[in-house]
Amino acid sequence: MEDTRKLNASQLGTKKYWDEFYALERDNFSKNPEDTGECWFDDNGAEERMVEFLVENIGQEKIDLGTKVIDLGTGNGHLLFELYENEFAGPMLGVDYSEESVEFAREISKSNGCDDKIKFAVADIFAPDWNPGLFDLVLDKGTLDAIALCEKTLPDGRRMVDGYSKVVEKLLDQGGIFLITSCNFTEDELISIVETNRLKVWKTIEYPVYEFGGVKGTTICSVAFIKQ
Ligand SMILES: C[S@@+](CC[C@H](N)C(=O)[O-])C[C@H]1O[C@@H](n2cnc3c(N)ncnc32)[C@H](O)[C@@H]1O
Repeated sequence: MEDTRKLNASQLGTKKYWDEFYALERDNFSKNPEDTGECWFDDNGAEERMVEFLVENIGQEKIDLGTKVIDLGTGNGHLLFELYENEFAGPMLGVDYSEESVEFAREISKSNGCDDKIKFAVADIFAPDWNPGLFDLVLDKGTLDAIALCEKTLPDGRRMVDGYSKVVEKLLDQGGIFLITSCNFTEDELISIVETNRLKVWKTIEYPVYEFGGVKGTTICSVAFIKQ
């Protein structure tokens, strides 16, 4: 049976692609400050659902308004701005390996008055010497999807996706939550990639289910894991 976790490497798996993508987005933003760029999975309301989920779960585990958050592959940083809009006021850090993305997120942050509240930093999350400390909440919207398209391998020859859980484990405090949204993997596939002895499924987000030819499915999934 074909392993659907192995997606074809494509441009979306390269840093060059994202540098060019965010350079263009910065250029658009410089011409039109209303244009803060692509919000991935917006059609599915993913960002809204992720934030709603976190708001609904305030008081559960380590989720509260002072929660220390990191967003992996933050892009334009929009998810963190949205959390801030929803009164999350703890330390927030958005990281991305694309310098253009980080500059873009900083520019937006400055324009909406968040620059002293949300930090953005350039980081390849797989870099062995990258250690930003421990967080209560780790977020990913579309980043594992991009990583799955990367042709590079880990030093031991495994695919990048196979090293992803270790990255998340390193960043999460005990009892912390990892909330991830993917459009490339089914919920079962996502769980099989992320779940380990220490990272267990906590809750999932429901999306509308479509039915086609008698087959039911959703085009997107979000799963929250807890670090034990
Ligand atoms: C599909 S975009 C999603 C961006 C953002 N999370 C959003 O929802 O708009 C994937 C992002 O992951 C970043 N990325 C991919 N591999 C990365 C890595 N190894 N370390 C840090 N960022 C990475 C890309 O630069 C890009 O910004």
